[in-house]
Amino acid sequence: MSLIELKQVTYQYPLDTEPVIKDVSLQIEAGKVYGLIGSNQAGKSTLCNIIRGFIPALFFGELTGSVTYQGKPVSDYNIGALAAEIGYSSQNPFTQISGVKDSVAEEIAYGMENIGVAPAVMQKKVTELLQLFHLEALQTKNPYELSGGQKQRVALASIVALDPQVVILDEPTSQLDPQSTEEVFQIIQLLKSQGKTIIVVEHKVDLLAEYCDEIILLADGQVVQKGPVQQIFSDPTILTYGGALPQMALFFLNQLHQTNQIPITLEEAIQQLKGGITR
Ligand SMILES: Nc1ncnc2c1ncn2[C@@H]1O[C@H](COP(=O)(O)OP(=O)(O)O)[C@@H](O)[C@H]1O
Ligand SMILES: [Mg+2]
Repeated sequence: MSLIELKQVTYQYPLDTEPVIKDVSLQIEAGKVYGLIGSNQAGKSTLCNIIRGFIPALFFGELTGSVTYQGKPVSDYNIGALAAEIGYSSQNPFTQISGVKDSVAEEIAYGMENIGVAPAVMQKKVTELLQLFHLEALQTKNPYELSGGQKQRVALASIVALDPQVVILDEPTSQLDPQSTEEVFQIIQLLKSQGKTIIVVEHKVDLLAEYCDEIILLADGQVVQKGPVQQIFSDPTILTYGGALPQMALFFLNQLHQTNQIPITLEEAIQQLKGGITR
């Protein structure tokens, strides 16, 4: 059984005249990292909100087809209980700060407080997370005084604090510099090593190539490609759907005119040049 399963899902926002998600069927397996890509307005954020049950529960509109989490319809879950299982960071870090806490440390603890985590446990967790997310120096700052990138790190820490099974990150690095972007992906890898399932909406295909197991490409509300990262990112077909190829794949395809076993990361290219066969 897949952890998350969508069957023939079609969704139309209220007042809209046509669906934005069209007949999407999708299986998400536990413990994998999924890169969700596609051009602007393709429906990526909408799909994230369908998976976590906010659509249609809070956005209303018309949804047909079925969406299940652990085999049970998402609509059968209490939305709060589901939110504890499926952590979500929105594409806008400014909407993610609770607004009720005066410091970064308290902000990270806020979600745990709400679910009644014991103070001693909470304190230990906050200390760990401040360190993991490089927020120690900012722990007494007001969350509103942070830069976009710092807010994003606090938002991520607040999600990880609740120990969800699934983490959905909607463009988590759009406000971040390259260094912080790399750090977000290292956190994704850490979460994966803890057995979490991760869906990350992201445009930076070179990083997706390095960290994802599978790629899902949405175009105009439909899943046009889905498969192992190596397969999707070594095939120029993706370009016809508005997707992009990693630099390494482009180099091997366009400059070296290689036709098969296209490496998608530096590491794979090195392996291949050494004469080894990758993946
Ligand atoms: N709350 C909303 N009400 C009506 N239409 C919306 C709403 N949110 C998004 N849309 C529309 O749905 C389509 C897909 O948007 P979105 O899911 O945000 O795409 P992406 O995240 O891929 O950029 C767009 O045409 C957008 O205008
Ligand atoms: Mg979006």
